[in-house]
Amino acid sequence: MNTNNKKKFKKITTNALLEMKIQKEKISMLTAYDFTMAKIIDSSGIDIILVGDSASNIMAGHETTLPITLDQMIYHASSVVRAVKRSLVVVDLPFGSYQGNSKRALDSAIRVMKESGAHSVKLEGGTEIIESISRILKAGIPVMGHLGLTPQSIYKFGTYSVRANNSDEAQKLIHDAIKLEECGCFAIVLEKIPAELGKKVAEKVKIPIIGIGAGSGVDGQVLVTHDLIGMNNEFNPRFIRRYLSLYDDISNAVKHYIEDIKNLNFPNNKEQY
Ligand code: KIV
Repeated sequence: MNTNNKKKFKKITTNALLEMKIQKEKISMLTAYDFTMAKIIDSSGIDIILVGDSASNIMAGHETTLPITLDQMIYHASSVVRAVKRSLVVVDLPFGSYQGNSKRALDSAIRVMKESGAHSVKLEGGTEIIESISRILKAGIPVMGHLGLTPQSIYKFGTYSVRANNSDEAQKLIHDAIKLEECGCFAIVLEKIPAELGKKVAEKVKIPIIGIGAGSGVDGQVLVTHDLIGMNNEFNPRFIRRYLSLYDDISNAVKHYIEDIKNLNFPNNKEQY
């Protein structure tokens, strides 16, 4: 862990992130959806906690991120905010809460900020949602962009494959990133794009670029915490690095517990009143 960074920034703000980019210090970001996990990763020194709409998959078991509602996102976000002392908390606006209607987008962002106490919101998309982003920003709410693989549009593309790997799509992505910066976004997530393109975008814009499957040339990295700690063993894209194998560890602990009950080993004399 970068303990220097923990001392330097007592609280992570959008300005602190810009400062990190200028200083060439990489930014760390992870997801959390509940109080207990948020407390562990915040106190471990993570810079940004994302209350991702991946909660739809990870917490609720849906196949896509589309079903999660604004109320559910606010519930997850407020649990996270109660645990956080230092990190910047970013909350995904869920599918259907901002697309195609900038008034609805603003209302959704205000609800997130007011009801959860989070510090900013994230929206998927480029020029097609710029009106929504700009209206939210005008209300004083910091916005993080999200380009490349945008899981809320999965049915438009039909696959979770690498995005922007031809020159037209790469040009559009660069154009979108510049527009998001001009509009006032404080950072952008780039998901599952060629590493060379990730580096190019990070060099083109002054705001931090946080990658997930976007290579090492960007300004920071984000992973889904449940992937990092190996809580699920069925999702294996190349960009994940697993630091633990908790799926197996928890399963073994549960098997051990069952065995102890069946063999009359739990509770023992010291474990009862
Ligand atoms: O919802 C999420 O977890 C995300 C990350 C994959 C960036 O958007």
